[in-house]
Amino acid sequence: MTVPQPSAEEIARRLSEAMRGALDLFSVYIGDQLGFYRLLVSGGPATSMQLAERAGTNERYTREWLEQQAVTGFLAVDDPTKPVTERVFSLPAGYEAVFVDPDSFIGMAQGAQILVGTVKPLPALLEAFRTGAGVPYDAYGPDLAGGQARFNRPMLLHQLAQDYIPVMPDIDARLRADPPARVADIGMGMAWSSIGLARGYPKITVDGFDLDAYSVEQANANVAAEGLRDRVVCHCRDAGDPELAGQYDFALAVECVHDMANPVAVLSAMRRLVGPGGTVLIVDDRADESFLPNGTDQERVLYGFSILHCLPVGMGDSTSAQTGAVMRPDTFRGYAAEAGFSKVEILPVEHEGFSFYRLTA
Ligand SMILES: C[S@@+](CC[C@H](N)C(=O)[O-])C[C@H]1O[C@@H](n2cnc3c(N)ncnc32)[C@H](O)[C@@H]1O
Repeated sequence: MTVPQPSAEEIARRLSEAMRGALDLFSVYIGDQLGFYRLLVSGGPATSMQLAERAGTNERYTREWLEQQAVTGFLAVDDPTKPVTERVFSLPAGYEAVFVDPDSFIGMAQGAQILVGTVKPLPALLEAFRTGAGVPYDAYGPDLAGGQARFNRPMLLHQLAQDYIPVMPDIDARLRADPPARVADIGMGMAWSSIGLARGYPKITVDGFDLDAYSVEQANANVAAEGLRDRVVCHCRDAGDPELAGQYDFALAVECVHDMANPVAVLSAMRRLVGPGGTVLIVDDRADESFLPNGTDQERVLYGFSILHCLPVGMGDSTSAQTGAVMRPDTFRGYAAEAGFSKVEILPVEHEGFSFYRLTA
């Protein structure tokens, strides 16, 4: 099958636009990390000196950033003809949803943070391409793990328990019933899924398991800040460990099976945790059924993250399944069958980025 190729000029135009987009994103990272957007909301419109004082930053750098933000259209300026140090900059009404609000579904500061984290270990990544070695998750640093957690947080806090679990009425009922249900949250990152479930189902207890020590530390801090320490505990643990034991009424894993070096070992562990007939929910990036050149935006995003992060973190050991972010439904069905599940069902959930697989042990 031949797919028409865009002209060289179209590709050059697209990359030139992407270059401006990348500069926008890195400028958003600066504003996010230094608290500029947040301080423009909490303290109101500001001159460069006022914002620098609020943020504890240098005035000249802050002024250049403010002007750059106004030129790219993210900030408003009261009067561009004023002398530079007298111009007053503000975040236009409604833009907090993009730059500040952690629960917004259109937040993009977290997207900037993920991208910065994704390119952190580029020299090691180039070497990994040559040698076939992996790049450890922690080499991507707090920006990758933190940006990832922020990115999924709105969905995990406001849709998982409210909209997605009820698609499985039997599980929804069990999580509301007595005796209180026990839930295993595999690869829970910074625990927004565990917290979302514990908030939505006030009787349940949740055990989270994640390999990444920094994420587990942040997870337990988030749990404590939410006042949920009596019902949610996060453990630093390889979920593929054959010794992982326990009895749970439900287990889930959000956006992590494709990252795992050994997804079958983890799925087998989840099957054991819920016992015969039990239910496991896997939420993972939605890939098309098959490979197609000049693909969809979703496939472009998945392959982009796959080459930079998801494949390298999963290549860590010689037994790796070498999955990557583009885990096609057939690949996943194969893993689930190998792990001993009797049934795989794709739930009827409308989500632009994720597939929801219900597995029966
Ligand atoms: C892309 S993050 C997703 C985190 C979280 N579920 C979320 O949605 O924000 C993938 C997570 O899987 C974890 N992970 C990968 N392999 C694992 C394993 N074998 N056992 C436990 N956690 C693992 C990583 O440490 C990381 O926190």
